[in-house]
Amino acid sequence: MIETRVLKPSDDAIREAADALSRGELVAFPTETVYGLGGDATDDRAVARIFEAKARPSFNPLISHLPDPESAFDHGMFDDRARMIAEAFWPGPLTLVVPRRGDCRISLLASAGLDTVALRVPSHPLASALLAAAGRPIAAPSANPSGRVSPTTAEHVLAGLDGRVSIILDGGPCSVGLESTVLDLSEEAPTILRPGAVTADMLEPLIGAVGVAGHGAKIAAPGMLESHYAPGLPVRLDATAPGPGELFLGFGTVTGPEGSETLSAQGDLTEAAANLFALLRSLDRPGATGIAVAPIPETGLGIAINNRLRRAAAPRA
Ligand code: TXA
Ligand code: MG
Repeated sequence: MIETRVLKPSDDAIREAADALSRGELVAFPTETVYGLGGDATDDRAVARIFEAKARPSFNPLISHLPDPESAFDHGMFDDRARMIAEAFWPGPLTLVVPRRGDCRISLLASAGLDTVALRVPSHPLASALLAAAGRPIAAPSANPSGRVSPTTAEHVLAGLDGRVSIILDGGPCSVGLESTVLDLSEEAPTILRPGAVTADMLEPLIGAVGVAGHGAKIAAPGMLESHYAPGLPVRLDATAPGPGELFLGFGTVTGPEGSETLSAQGDLTEAAANLFALLRSLDRPGATGIAVAPIPETGLGIAINNRLRRAAAPRA
């Protein structure tokens, strides 16, 4: 166990966090999607510490974070198509999987031995400042124990990883609330490996048809492990009312009985995404038999929300 310090944003906090990263320590930091558990992506031992802290199956490759597109171009091979997408959507909630450059310094452990890298330029100002100060790619999966609900506040991170991370930078709640879209551009056909706030509809005007990977796709993404993003209680989907002992998570006009929570009373998918992980945590109460969730439309951001909900509801290992 190490001492975990939660720091409010300041120039000093950013410098301390960057110094900790340069020593190979772990720092949790906010992004616009979820909080990341960061370590120096060029340091095999720091990357190994990330897997250890999360108790994550090490066959899952990690995303490396950079302060700007130019630094990302140093590590991956960006063809015209990849550059166009990077310029259109970075900084923002999109991860690009591209072939590793020959001189790529990112740990092979972070790539899980693949000849591709996953790169992302987040838009959260605290993340940008930390990445610029660190001056190296930072590998960062969501800052939660493997398989559990992703963190969207510093308190969530502390609840799961106290004693396993040196510093938590507290930037308040994340605005998007769901992990980034992972777009694989390493092959001819662009494929979304994990749905997120950047949808196929938004990408297609620039690069043509975009496939969406389902079960049996080539990469074992965390989103493809059967059970993931899971609270302790069982989760039941497409519910119109709670069953005996169940707590209810509504959406739009499907509200459940008094005392129920709602992802968005207005039926707003952006609000629902931002609330999803925090509400799954707060409804995960001892004494209840499960969490019943109202139907969410399978359009736009709803595709990513339903993807996370299906994992949360999947049979547990
Ligand atoms: O929003 C996010 O992306 C958050 C924040 C912290 O930035 N990070 C995050 O990282 O979710 P992580 O490491 O948990 O997600 C990694 C995702 C997985 O779906 C993984 O399989 C995929 O990216 N991935 C990473 N490297 C890959 C590669 N070389 N080929 C294919 N998929 C890859
Ligand atoms: Mg995760």
